[in-house]
Amino acid sequence: MLNPNLITNAQALLASERASYMKLHPKSAELSVKANQHFLYGVPMHWMNDWGTPVPLFINHAEGAHFTCADGIDYTDFCLGDTGAMFGHSSAPVAKAIAAQAGRGYTAMLPSTLAPDVGETLSDFFGLDYWQLATTATDANRFVLRWARAVTGRSKLLVFDGCYHGTIDDTEIDIVNGKTVNRASLLGQVYDLGLHTVAVPFNDLAAVEHELAKGDVAVLLTEPALTNCGMVLPHAGFIESLRALTSKYGTLLTLDETHTISTARGGWAKANSVTPDFLVVGKPIAGGLPAAAYGFSEAMAARMKAAKDEAPAGHSGIGTTLSGNMMTLAAINATLRDTATEAAYQHMLGLATKLEIQFNQVIKTYGLPWSISRMGARLELQFCANPPSNAAEARAAQNDTIESAIHLYLLNRGVLLTPFHNMMLICPVTTEADIAKLVRIFNEFLKDLLKGIEQ
Ligand SMILES: Cc1ncc(COP(=O)(O)O)c(C=O)c1O
Repeated sequence: MLNPNLITNAQALLASERASYMKLHPKSAELSVKANQHFLYGVPMHWMNDWGTPVPLFINHAEGAHFTCADGIDYTDFCLGDTGAMFGHSSAPVAKAIAAQAGRGYTAMLPSTLAPDVGETLSDFFGLDYWQLATTATDANRFVLRWARAVTGRSKLLVFDGCYHGTIDDTEIDIVNGKTVNRASLLGQVYDLGLHTVAVPFNDLAAVEHELAKGDVAVLLTEPALTNCGMVLPHAGFIESLRALTSKYGTLLTLDETHTISTARGGWAKANSVTPDFLVVGKPIAGGLPAAAYGFSEAMAARMKAAKDEAPAGHSGIGTTLSGNMMTLAAINATLRDTATEAAYQHMLGLATKLEIQFNQVIKTYGLPWSISRMGARLELQFCANPPSNAAEARAAQNDTIESAIHLYLLNRGVLLTPFHNMMLICPVTTEADIAKLVRIFNEFLKDLLKGIEQ
């Protein structure tokens, strides 16, 4: 339970930081007025208006672990496009590959000569033999769900409460009074998603087995750690047990590694020797250009071919015109082979470990019942003494006012965290000085937040 005085202080801080933001960002304010004339909410995607700043921050230039805004202020970026720029903004190999491809065509509905090389790159990186591409991780998950239902002949999807796998409708559900129902915030969804999707709490093996034993679950789709409701790490052996249980009941296991690619080169599954039936990745694999991929074994490839061959000719419901285009093929190779190297990961993991230690020290200094969860290069600050075991515990630890105050306080001092939670990501060119700056300002924030409060 958070001290109510903390929330009162956070509200006051938020008001003064909103005023500072407007003083610091006259150009962003000006651009916002202009953008409002033709964009809904004044932004290309409506959720870009939900960051909690009085007007959106407009970006001028992003490179490495930094960017500058329209007002010429330099920021250290720990959001990194919510993983899209996890290997650094405009890394030299990716910029070079895109420039080289730029004069040679972008899309043709046919594979470029790079395609065999990209297949090999994906296979080497993630350790699965066969691949298909998509344009977004949302689409990759959607396609995998179609394949899984086609291959198994079963209809149900099993996910975890608090999951997010993109805007794939089937996964946008919540548990309310023990029932899986449509997320209340969904716009324009008229189907009952609970008809074919079942959600259970993360880290609850008994609940998983109870559902799998019914024999109608085509696929269990999960991230190795929940990363979209704060962060919920798996208990020791949990994902391994999911692998064993899904195999036992004839359900396919899909691991969505779109965020947990932060764990190590190759992702969480490779690092922990778990082989899923499908592995989904998106966001950073083409340096931030829209691209995603899903991998599977040779045996699964045979089952997929059989399902396709048995179906009548026509639309499969799997595919989009621009997926696998020539430009993204070039960018995938340059990202996974030349940017996300073993040395890059060593740097990211080393610095993330240091940041975790330093954050914990600051939290301890102020005696706050807060904690840090880390998955490789990704860290999450949560307002609970012990890291949560499931989404319900993670939700109980959330506080929008304190979170918004932290974000705006840091942003006004040149540090960007990931919006909608307290996530920090380290990229291959984040420096010791960058993390020292973050820790120093976080320390100052806590001093201000706790003014006049006995902890
Ligand atoms: C785990 C996970 N999977 C998939 C997605 C979807 O990615 P995209 O929005 O690029 O389609 C997200 C987006 O945040 C995600 O967090």
